[in-house]
Amino acid sequence: MCPQMDKDVQIETSPNGQNGQGGNMSGKFYVTTPIYYPSGRFHIGTAYTTVLADSMKRYHKLKGEDTYMLTGTDEHGQKIQQKAEDAGKTPKEYVDEMARMAKELWAKMDIEYNDFIQTTEERHTKIVQKIFDRFMEQGDIYKGEYEGWYCIPCETYFTETQLVDGKCPDCGREVQLMKEEAYFFNMKKYVDKLLKYYDEHPDFIKPAYRKTEMINNFIKPGLEDLCVTRTSFDWGIKVPKDPKHVIYVWLDALTNYLTALGYLSEDDTLFKKYWPADLQIVGKDIARFHLIYWPIFLMALDLPLPKTIFVHNWFMMKDGKMSKSKGNVIYPETLIDRYGLDATRYFLLRELPVSQDGIFSPESFVERYNFDLCNDLSNLLNRTVSMVNKYFDGQVPEYNGTPNEVDREFEKYTFEQINKFDEKWNEYEIANSIQEIWNLISRTNKYIDETMPWSLAKEEKEEELKSSMYHLIENLRRIAILIKPFMNDTADNILRQIGVNDENLKNWDSLKGEYAKIKKAKVIEKGEPIFMRLKPEEEVEYIKNAMKK
Ligand code: MSP
Repeated sequence: MCPQMDKDVQIETSPNGQNGQGGNMSGKFYVTTPIYYPSGRFHIGTAYTTVLADSMKRYHKLKGEDTYMLTGTDEHGQKIQQKAEDAGKTPKEYVDEMARMAKELWAKMDIEYNDFIQTTEERHTKIVQKIFDRFMEQGDIYKGEYEGWYCIPCETYFTETQLVDGKCPDCGREVQLMKEEAYFFNMKKYVDKLLKYYDEHPDFIKPAYRKTEMINNFIKPGLEDLCVTRTSFDWGIKVPKDPKHVIYVWLDALTNYLTALGYLSEDDTLFKKYWPADLQIVGKDIARFHLIYWPIFLMALDLPLPKTIFVHNWFMMKDGKMSKSKGNVIYPETLIDRYGLDATRYFLLRELPVSQDGIFSPESFVERYNFDLCNDLSNLLNRTVSMVNKYFDGQVPEYNGTPNEVDREFEKYTFEQINKFDEKWNEYEIANSIQEIWNLISRTNKYIDETMPWSLAKEEKEEELKSSMYHLIENLRRIAILIKPFMNDTADNILRQIGVNDENLKNWDSLKGEYAKIKKAKVIEKGEPIFMRLKPEEEVEYIKNAMKK
């Protein structure tokens, strides 16, 4: 460590050598996405959760943890049965084809998932039946009567609040109040235990205001027992001892997070290694199921609860929700094919605030591309590479570790920004954390104007010129590591262009401590722009047209 470095701006290191709050004492990190309904193409909203989970996984991997990511598809229920029928396929043929499409999209988005579970797989269905039986034996599930508003043509029950003007929300036709025999899970039994758990585990729900929402909207008014079976359709997992009933979505769906790890199966190595989950990411519409029913199911199974469930907001369009009929749906492929994967991933994570919904607009996409990626990041790399070529024949000068006034301030700022990024990222303030990296990029651009390498060269101030070049390269290296979890290729591209090949200088630990780390690096002869300026009107038009298709 260089002697003048202020101690308080070093990246904090916890006793087990892990860094900051993101450090995980157990050294493992299990992250899940919701399992998606395979009822149509995934738009950027559904892709968001998966990109976030993947980025979280990559971040923990960069920190040297043993990571595991699960995603999949939620394949039972009447809607899926209907979709398959419309497509002239059996439900299983239909869901398998949709799962294949989902995997293709995740491959295109470079999602590093470890497992993809389909709820129609035997490894899942068998265990769900075991869980159901256990709940029956424990008296957590009992037989009763389900009453709801039934739409005969849609063959679907709705609650009073789901109706639109007293009619079916799907087809607009009359509904009838009907009853059927059903099994219920006794939620009331666990409410007090759940509230106590919320209280004692402030990290369980992020952001914290979602906890207040759960308590005020669902628990205080009196939590209803949950209906967990149906007899009105049969595309589902059968209740073992009463097969005219199928297990209804949430008990089936939520348990995927366990069954994928081999819970209650012959080989439960993964379960033993990775459960409880470290992070479960869900959108706000399914918060209730994950923050209330899921922990209660786990309590009933006597299992530890996930460390954190993070609830994110939604991507909206200027005119409200994305919908095919409005012609305002934006698919990830549209953006990836034209602007590249990293720009797409950057935009998704950068544009969704933690406290409210985010808006997707073609204008904001093009603006972020031109300003953040092209002007700020790409130009910084280009200017630096060309100066190192010009002044030092491409050889990155080595640094003696003794900063002058300007450099000291610059180093201090850099460490502070890395800490800020880390803190916010670990609080799931994703957009804000990425802003901290871009603040560092701006500051690094400003450092060029501050040190004026062209004047230093003219005045033959060799040592200062070397230091300026070194600091620019070193900061580009740091920036590359910071963006690596969500912009992997861009990070690698930057490291290649600045000639950093040493693997030890590409991991998270190399952000800590001394500044003088890079030795014998040579930048490439001619910098390659990583993002090229877009023509705003043309591209806005392009995206708008793609949305109408
Ligand atoms: N199958 C259930 C989840 C079961 S998890 C045990 C489901 N599937 S879904 O396909 O409808 O939605 C999956 C996820 O996509 C949810 O987290 C949902 O919030 C998210 N999103 C759907 N539209 C979205 C946006 N417009 N923006 C951000 N996320 C969005 O629910």
